[in-house]
Amino acid sequence: MKFFVDTAEVADIRSLAEAGLVDGVTTNPSLIAKSGRDMKTVIAEICAITPGPVSAEVTATDAAGMIAEGKALRAIAPNVAVKVPLTEAGLVACRTLANDGAMVNVTLCFSAAQALLAAKAGATFISPFVGRLDDISSDGMRLIADIVQIYKNYTNLKTEVLVASVRHPIHLVESAKLGAHVATLPPNVIRMLLKHPLTDRGLEAFLADWKKTGQSIL
Ligand code: E4P
Repeated sequence: MKFFVDTAEVADIRSLAEAGLVDGVTTNPSLIAKSGRDMKTVIAEICAITPGPVSAEVTATDAAGMIAEGKALRAIAPNVAVKVPLTEAGLVACRTLANDGAMVNVTLCFSAAQALLAAKAGATFISPFVGRLDDISSDGMRLIADIVQIYKNYTNLKTEVLVASVRHPIHLVESAKLGAHVATLPPNVIRMLLKHPLTDRGLEAFLADWKKTGQSIL
């Protein structure tokens, strides 16, 4: 399973990449706004850290505008994946950009039917938002199960399931059990995955016992 990092904070991406945890990155207009930085500069810096796909989202709402913005975003670096919303215009832009050789991430997916349309439009990635579905008392993980099953039924569909809006470790573990190709994880969720009280307690005990020996390895 590939791990993308869901952030526009370059320092976080750099330190997670040092641990080998970054197969790609996703951003969106809200994350760019939160960073307070210029979008194209941030995307260029991220693309220099990871060779994996870096999603940069268009903000036009018509197909021609999305295509023009997609081309401008692709010019930043070869590993930019153009992110388009799951609207009719977004699917037209997806098909056009994909025909042109672009990686396209279709975002804001909330139903299996939408995911099927995105695959037919040539999306490289479909981004179903599990956390936002859970927020409205719907079942985010059920959607992942449905999309994974549908895509498996048709081997001509090459779109990868990119689980988005991940809020906690259970979303990740369940996505992995279902066979989703990618999960995009905010840095705080990656750090939650690391943590286990028995790891902390075990390490403390080992170090205390080691101290009693008076030895040193170096
Ligand atoms: C990533 O591609 C999505 O934009 C992101 O995961 C959305 O997460 P949120 O629902 O926590 O804003």
